[in-house]
Parts: sequence; structure tokens; C-alpha cells
Amino acid sequence: MSFEDKTVWITGASSGIGEALTYALSKRGSKLIISSRREQALERVRRQCAIPSEVEIIPLDLTETGTLPQKAEQARSAFGHIDYLFNNGGISQRSLAVDTDMEVVRKVMEVNFFGTVALTKAVLPAMKQRQSGHIVVTSSVMGKFGTRLRSAYAASKHALHGWFDCLRQEIHDDNIKVSLVCPGFIKTDVTLNALEGDGSKHNKMGEGQKKGMEPSTFAQKLLPKILREKEEIYIGGMELMGVYLKRISPRLLNAILRNSDVT
Ligand SMILES: NC(=O)c1ccc[n+]([C@@H]2O[C@H](COP(=O)([O-])OP(=O)(O)OC[C@H]3O[C@@H](n4cnc5c(N)ncnc54)[C@H](OP(=O)(O)O)[C@@H]3O)[C@@H](O)[C@H]2O)c1
Repeated sequence: MSFEDKTVWITGASSGIGEALTYALSKRGSKLIISSRREQALERVRRQCAIPSEVEIIPLDLTETGTLPQKAEQARSAFGHIDYLFNNGGISQRSLAVDTDMEVVRKVMEVNFFGTVALTKAVLPAMKQRQSGHIVVTSSVMGKFGTRLRSAYAASKHALHGWFDCLRQEIHDDNIKVSLVCPGFIKTDVTLNALEGDGSKHNKMGEGQKKGMEPSTFAQKLLPKILREKEEIYIGGMELMGVYLKRISPRLLNAILRNSDVT
């Protein structure tokens, strides 16, 4: 099993994890469709790929769910079909729940949850028809437990687990796989781009992010696990312990997190 000649659609490809996945897959000989809002940033990523001629750019905004079926049609016609959809685009949050405007809660849910669901629904019929496909979703360790300052973000990632766990069972007999990926701290601009309670950009690098794993290392670790069709994947540092501790003692995990620096 390899990614060579496979068609892979990656959202959130203009920076961070999605950008690193794009380079890693281009090196492995994949045909790529890369998406996010910023077309110029996607052009820069394409130029840096191993095989730029095998990279198609489709700009999209995950909050504009009505446009996504047509984007999926465009993506399918680029190389004939889609083998993998990497639902990776997303935004984070840095604000206390009590200070977070409802518009911000909705925005985080729109991008991370509704956009991801809508795009997945747009590619599913063709995958079902081919009886083949693999949907990868970048969740987070925040999809498995919560900390201060991330109420909407953690809610959006938890919601992904609910929806995709159900979907996985529904499409098993169509030979379509679902992998939920839970990164810990990865050194990207995710905290800089995070929303504050009033919707403004946080613009500060998180302490965890500064010490996080390089996105290229993350991509190298992730891809073999996707080929092995793992259903839930955790990649990161010590913060992954939270996932396991939550199963044994949620109370102890909460006590530890209350006293941790989660900025
Ligand atoms: N870095 C971490 O420590 C970490 C940990 C756990 C999970 N994650 C998840 O990993 C994924 C990638 O994040 P990252 O760390 O690589 O951060 P990032 O560098 O900020 O990348 C976020 C990507 O999402 C795209 N995006 C944001 N809003 C969008 C929208 N409305 N429509 C379409 N695309 C949109 C951005 O592109 P444009 O601005 O061009 O639209 C960008 O390419 C996210 O789902 C994030 O929640 C990250």
C-alpha cells in the first residue's frame, strides 16, 4: 500500500499541518487537490511541491457550505476521482466560555464541524459509487478532553468524533474508511490564528505550540498510520497522556488541567 498515484484532496493546505501533508504526499507521488481560502498561499505551496504539475488548487471557504458540492465536483474532475479526503482546515479559540460571543462559538462550529461535514457529504456519493475511499479528519486531543480557553474549539472537535464514528459504521460495507486524527501540540500558526471572545485574532503563539512537534515530523508519522487504515490516531508529546487518563480518572485529569498552563 502506498500513496503513489492516489488522488488526495487536502483542506487547510495553505499552512501548518495541511501544508506539511501536501509536501509529504507530493514526495510520495500523489495527485493532489489543495484547498483553503487564501489562493496565493496555495500557489506558494504548489510551487514548493515535488511535482507541482500534479497539484490542483481549489480555493474554498468551509463556512460557505452551499458552495461545497460544486467544489467537490471540480475536485473530482481534476483527476477523475478522489481516493482520500483529508478534512484538515480549522480554527482554534483562546477565550473563556463566559467571554465568548455566540457568533464566535458558531464560527468555530461552522468551520471545524459544519464545513467538514458538508465537504464530506459532497464527496461521499462518488466514493460510494466507486466502492472505495478514505476520509481523514484532523480532530485534536481537544476532541477527547477539554481545557480552559477552548470551549467552542473542544466542542467542535468532540462533535466530529460523534458524527464520524456514526458515519464509519454506515459506510463500512461500501469499503470507505474513516480515520480521526488527534494531534497534540504541533508547531503551526494555529494559536496565532485562533479567535478571541470578540472574534478578533489572538495573534500570540501558544506556549505549547512553541515547544510542539514540527509539522513535517507529524506528517511523516501520520501517513503510514493512514495506510494501515487506523481508525483513531494520536500524535504528539506528553499531552497525549490526557487521552488515556480521561478513560481511567476524568476527575484526576480535570484537577491536573486546572493547574496547567494551557495558553
Ligand atoms: N497545531 C496544533 O497543535 C493542532 C493540534 C490539534 C489539532 N489541530 C488541527 O489541525 C488542523 C490544521 O491546523 P494547523 O495547526 O495547521 O493551523 P493553521 O496553520 O492555522 O492552519 C489552518 C488551516 O485551515 C485553513 N482554514 C481556516 N479557516 C478556514 C475556512 N473558513 N475555510 C477554509 N479553510 C480554512 C487555513 O487556510 P486559509 O487561512 O487560507 O483559509 C489553514 O490552511 C486544524 O483543524 C486544527 O484544529 C492543530
